[in-house]
Amino acid sequence: MSALNKLAVFASGTGSNFEAIEKAIREGQVNAEIALVVSDKPEAKVIDKAKSAGIPTFVFDPKGYSSKQVFEQEIVEALHKEKVDWIILAGYMRLVGDTLLTPYEGRIINIHPSLLPAFKGLDAVGQAFDAGVKVTGVTIHFVDKGMDTGRIIAQEAVYVKDGMSKPDLEYEIQKVEHLLYPNTIQQLINRGNQA
Ligand code: GRF
Repeated sequence: MSALNKLAVFASGTGSNFEAIEKAIREGQVNAEIALVVSDKPEAKVIDKAKSAGIPTFVFDPKGYSSKQVFEQEIVEALHKEKVDWIILAGYMRLVGDTLLTPYEGRIINIHPSLLPAFKGLDAVGQAFDAGVKVTGVTIHFVDKGMDTGRIIAQEAVYVKDGMSKPDLEYEIQKVEHLLYPNTIQQLINRGNQA
């Protein structure tokens, strides 16, 4: 692995977690470099944010490919070119297939807005809110073939206080995400450097 850990951030949407990680790197809290932002949504806000930060992007439209294997092969080539060490999924709305998983197994992590294994899949905050739970939270986990199933690395609870709306809960969850993700990435980097 190169001295400065190289990250690729994968995102399909707003990219607030990308921003939090990028800021933490700039401020010296994470000893890494974002080498590439990968997005499957050509119109995603995260792409403009990456460009403003001067970070290269790899943007693709899955509709233009015959299969997941074909576009994942292109992604792997882009990752190898940039010598990426870690793949950071941050709102990447697709399951990762074997083509990407095999070369990066144990080096792909995801953030999910619930205390897994509760509330897997889409709109986890809404699922928790509708279920009326009093505690939910954020999970960071290794990625495997399943949806939100890989080994858990870190979790933090968020309490659902009386009178909270769903947007209130989303706000509280994102606040936790934006601290927990950079901290966890730095912990993984520290562990990797000791190995
Ligand atoms: C986050 O809530 C994350 O937990 C989930 O997708 C959302 C991405 O948000 N996987 P953003 O694009 O980083 O703002």
